[in-house]
Amino acid sequence: ERGMGSAVGQVPEYCEQITRWVMEVAKIPVIVKLTPNISDIVIPARAAVAAGANALSLINTLNSIIGVDLETLEITPNIGGKGGHGGYAGPAVKPIALNMLAALGKDSIMGRARLPISGMGGISTWRDAAEFLLLGASSLQVCTAVMHYGFRIVEDLCDGLSNWMDEKGFAGISDVVGRSLYRVSDFNNFDLSFQAVARIDQQKCIRCNLCYVACNDAAHQCIDLIAKDGTLVQPQSYDIQANGKEEAIGTRPSVHVREVDCVGCRLCYNVCPVEDCIRMIEEPSGRPSVTWGQLSESQRDVTEDWEKMKKYREKMGIDIH
Ligand SMILES: Cc1cc2nc3c(=O)[nH]c(=O)nc-3n(C[C@H](O)[C@H](O)[C@H](O)COP(=O)(O)O)c2cc1C
Ligand code: SF4
Ligand code: SF4
Repeated sequence: ERGMGSAVGQVPEYCEQITRWVMEVAKIPVIVKLTPNISDIVIPARAAVAAGANALSLINTLNSIIGVDLETLEITPNIGGKGGHGGYAGPAVKPIALNMLAALGKDSIMGRARLPISGMGGISTWRDAAEFLLLGASSLQVCTAVMHYGFRIVEDLCDGLSNWMDEKGFAGISDVVGRSLYRVSDFNNFDLSFQAVARIDQQKCIRCNLCYVACNDAAHQCIDLIAKDGTLVQPQSYDIQANGKEEAIGTRPSVHVREVDCVGCRLCYNVCPVEDCIRMIEEPSGRPSVTWGQLSESQRDVTEDWEKMKKYREKMGIDIH
């Protein structure tokens, strides 16, 4: 690290100072590119805005070490046996980029400045591109995917995006830019009465039991293994040699969600290898709708005193297990 972009981008004062120097002499529009190697992206973004930047772009790469060679014990890749951090990019960084983009879109100072934002970080498909637009990017950049697939990927992005916009009835990019920002919120504004449960389509299920393992070992132990006669089956008590769906249906128990205990964490949904086999279904909870913010105002003691919170939960029939 030679104290260049990533280093100065982490110090808002430098970000502002350097942008100001550039703005003094620039004869073309200046786009300040932000590093994601910082906890709050809004701070350097505001610094660049204060210095008069014409636009922003984000994200650059994340500092990362790819791995260690277990034979030589060297960092990999390395130069003559020594390695340092490289820049992580591509699909894995997309959620980070979207979060940072949305943070800028929600910031009131950024909102008043109305600077165009160029979005990047993991864009590989037209769907990715659409998501960046929806969260406030008015132009897009693609690096890793071009390295991987070549420039022709841009045509695929344009075609897909254009078809999707036609389907949705969007006349131009400006109809899309920032359209989902109002849906980005925080815990304070989420409805505490919201309830969703996992539901399994038995016709599609291949009985791989990945959902059972995920829920049992890492979530809320509310998926049961059920034998043909309806009795509960203990794990490891049945033949796991089945090859393919047909055989598995004959020899393995089926998986059933005890919906009353399901907290809607989506872990099973994420591990299921069969498309649309597990769906998350919104269920009316029967409790009045209230957010944490509203509760803090109307019943502050409940949000500050653990015993009062426990009583509130009992009264509302909220069971945390
Ligand atoms: C091999 C490589 C080299 C890069 N070099 C630069 C660079 O010199 N300057 C820069 O601002 N960003 C550089 N980037 C960052 C990209 O421009 C982009 O911000 C980042 O990779 C995220 O987008 P992506 O997921 O589409 O790759 C580089 C990225 C990669 C993968
Ligand atoms: S959503 Fe979570 S709690 Fe509900 S069945 Fe799936 S893994 Fe279990
Ligand atoms: S992960 Fe999906 S396919 Fe596998 S057992 Fe569960 S529901 Fe069936």
